[in-house]
Amino acid sequence: MRKAFVLMEDLESITAAALEEFAACADPAALENSKARYLGKTGQLSELLKSLGKLSAADRPAAGARINEAKAKLEAALNRRRAELADLRLTRQLSAQALDVTLPGRGIGVGGLHPITRTLQRIETLFHSIGFAVALGPEIEDDFHNFTALNTPEDHPARSMHDTFYVEGGMVLRTHTSPIQVRYMETHAPPIKIIAPGRVYRVDSDATHSPMFHQVEGMWIDEDVTFADLKAVFTEFLRRFFERDDLKVRFRPSFFPFTEPSAEIDMSFGGGWLEISGAGQVHPNVLSAVGIDPERYQGFAFGMGADRLAMLRYGVDDLRLFFENDLRFLRQFA
Ligand code: DAH
Repeated sequence: MRKAFVLMEDLESITAAALEEFAACADPAALENSKARYLGKTGQLSELLKSLGKLSAADRPAAGARINEAKAKLEAALNRRRAELADLRLTRQLSAQALDVTLPGRGIGVGGLHPITRTLQRIETLFHSIGFAVALGPEIEDDFHNFTALNTPEDHPARSMHDTFYVEGGMVLRTHTSPIQVRYMETHAPPIKIIAPGRVYRVDSDATHSPMFHQVEGMWIDEDVTFADLKAVFTEFLRRFFERDDLKVRFRPSFFPFTEPSAEIDMSFGGGWLEISGAGQVHPNVLSAVGIDPERYQGFAFGMGADRLAMLRYGVDDLRLFFENDLRFLRQFA
């Protein structure tokens, strides 16, 4: 028969060892291993409980109660240590992710508008001030809007004036902004008073030609809009754009299939003349193609090179600089 006091001594040393071990565990895995050693099925405390049978019947109840007390104590200590370790882990995690709000900021790069965008906006503002609305159209255009409706049918020699990019399905990259006139007239009745800025495309590339460039189309159709109105509007526009009241503007006879008469508009520059725009009175065939009665309505249209205006305004002598996106160049305009 085993002596009860021996068992109780064992109980005390096991409890003390377990408490010490739990407290020393530095992570949850070690703690769970340690728990198994004492409280698990074959753990030291469980073995002690099994050995109760070796005590006398009289000693058994008290000893059993002591063991259960010790078990409860260990379980409480275990849970405390579990909570402590979880707290510790959270604290470590938080301090590892800590933000030092007193550090100086990295700074914000302030963007700027591209000089071509600024130029287009300036043109829009000036025309808007005299009652022109802004119209837009697709860059991939069909043959009808880019050529045919503009009095340039399939076999017309003027088609070869444009080195066209053809894309799938018989479509083209628009060679000018003039198709926007057509689209606008298809959906609006006169009076029509619009400008139409946008990208256009031609097979062409050197210091003054880029395969993609910008035009601004203009159109004013009403019952009595004449070539004199074109001269007044365009001259006034150029003088305001360049902020020079003495700027000279010249209209030179030219040819476009969609205008009659047609002109090139030049402006005085450095003792010479610079070509700025094509223009003219809208050809009756163009009005008829969109169902506008040419006996009743007439007016002018123009198509100017916007990049050319930007080059002149900013003193840039190579068009390609605008499209290389070199920030050292672009920052100068921001
Ligand atoms: N579309 C012509 C071009 O790209 C420019 C032009 C000339 C537009 C006369 C017009 C115009 O509206 O009336 O060369």
